[in-house]
Amino acid sequence: MKALVTYVSIHHGNTAKIAEVVASTLGADLLPLQEVKASMPEQYDLVGFGSGIYFGRHHRTLLRFVGELPLLTDKKAFIFATSGLRRLPLVHDFGRPLKKKLQDKGFDIVGEFSCRGRDTFGATMIVGGIHRGRPDARDLAEAADFAGTLLAGLSSAGR
Ligand SMILES: Cc1cc2nc3c(=O)[nH]c(=O)nc-3n(C[C@H](O)[C@H](O)[C@H](O)COP(=O)(O)O)c2cc1C
Repeated sequence: MKALVTYVSIHHGNTAKIAEVVASTLGADLLPLQEVKASMPEQYDLVGFGSGIYFGRHHRTLLRFVGELPLLTDKKAFIFATSGLRRLPLVHDFGRPLKKKLQDKGFDIVGEFSCRGRDTFGATMIVGGIHRGRPDARDLAEAADFAGTLLAGLSSAGR
């Protein structure tokens, strides 16, 4: 299985740390989004897309990139994020806009990972920012577990 992990990580490099662990566990190619061309996802069986959460959703450059992809078939995707606030499935599901765009392009979404990341945006600076040191070793271990589970699920589905 050929896999690509791509990410946007601007605020503190938080999501890049998750992307590295996930790509290494999957044995995937790892590229920042600015190095990925719209023709590239087609060359992979599985693509992971991640970023920090900005104003309630993944970074706009990632959403725009996915919106401009050609329609694809038989491709699997997973998404990942780091954020100041936790994902609340019904109230604050910040993964939804990206998932919707990927599904519209024909991707089957096979997994989703998120954890907290150092956040010094806006009012958080009143208290010197939040989540100092995150993602931490435990977050990275959970990201590796997520990727391992993904890989196991996809290998058994392919048998
Ligand atoms: C401009 C801006 C807007 C943000 N908006 C949100 C938000 O709506 N929800 C949230 O949970 N975190 C928000 N955050 C926090 C980031 O999602 C968090 O710090 C993330 O780990 C940044 O990832 P990065 O370092 O990979 O860019 C925001 C941060 C910035 C700088």
